[in-house]
Amino acid sequence: MDTIIYKYETADTKEQKKIIEHAGQILREGGLVAFPTETVYGLGGDALQPEASQKIYGAKGRPSDNPLIIHIGQMSDLDQLVSQIPEKALALANAFWPGPLTMILNKSSKVPYETTGGLDTVALRMPSHPCARALIMDSGVCIAAPSANTSGRPSPTTAEHVREDLDGKIPVIIDGGKVGIGIESTIVDLTEDVPVILRPGYITGEMLEAVVGPVRVDPAILEENVNKDFAPKAPGMKYKHYAPKGDLTIVEGEPQAVAETINQLTHSHEMEKKTVAVIATEETRSLYKAPIVLSIGTRASEETIAANLYDILRQMDTLKVDYIYSESFADGHLGRAIMNRLLKAAGYQVIQL
Ligand code: TXA
Ligand code: MG
Repeated sequence: MDTIIYKYETADTKEQKKIIEHAGQILREGGLVAFPTETVYGLGGDALQPEASQKIYGAKGRPSDNPLIIHIGQMSDLDQLVSQIPEKALALANAFWPGPLTMILNKSSKVPYETTGGLDTVALRMPSHPCARALIMDSGVCIAAPSANTSGRPSPTTAEHVREDLDGKIPVIIDGGKVGIGIESTIVDLTEDVPVILRPGYITGEMLEAVVGPVRVDPAILEENVNKDFAPKAPGMKYKHYAPKGDLTIVEGEPQAVAETINQLTHSHEMEKKTVAVIATEETRSLYKAPIVLSIGTRASEETIAANLYDILRQMDTLKVDYIYSESFADGHLGRAIMNRLLKAAGYQVIQL
């Protein structure tokens, strides 16, 4: 199959309308479209057509017990998708939708088990990206969409990443440029009295608590429980994600000490004729002696670090390095979400100084 790549600029031109119309037609006919959201690119299909969900699993090479998120355009879309909307879900929707928050609710009988990976609950999110919104509203389709990467690769933050993974496998990619946030939405389960965070993201626990009171974090996703026998409630969190081909280790400590340790490790790997790359920041990049030092962003703005994380991990694969050392980015508002992804990519290998 030839994949068409459309450029989407937010201008409301005839040309743009035609793109959205064509993509919408493909969705209604049960086909797939990759499109930008404010978090990462999604691979969309009609959430109510079981065959469309099956096609999504096929194109991604994703296990079919890993459920999809349904993207909606307006609150009234919920009526046909869920059996009931708890008070706290309404409050969170009012506070954070459209935006990077996914809520787990009990599904209606209309939502096929192919979309929910066999679960009686369903994941829902109202994205804020203008292209995603236009596509949902114009097509009249509630769009089931996982991240538009091959299963196990970093999520795509540009249309080029999507093309790398899905070229020839889907009819259309809509290129809306680089996404804003760069890590996937926060997932919160509202089927229990106390909401449970199943995946950290841009919307933090504190932000949720300010609206609905106490929330819990699924113990299975906490770093200290990694080697224990917890089954995460979001099935996708159990898979080893984003692992780069090189051996990735995170080094935590004072910047000077981190640089010294990484420089020593670089030296000994070079003696063994192995190649090394370092993931550093604008502030620290000059401290390293490795032949490849990539800056992930600036510590003055953790948004830049989140936005570049997946691109840097993809670059590491292209560079084919043997060893990768990364600084830790645990600080600030986005620290938890960034480290959740980076630690997974590193298989939880951390050197603490
Ligand atoms: O930001 C995002 O959420 C992006 C964009 C495209 O919207 N989507 C995304 O989808 O990250 P995906 O499929 O890569 O991740 C969905 C996660 C998986 O971990 C899955 O297991 C979990 O959501 N999930 C989906 N439905 C669920 C349910 N009913 N109960 C628990 N977890 C669920
Ligand atoms: Mg994903």
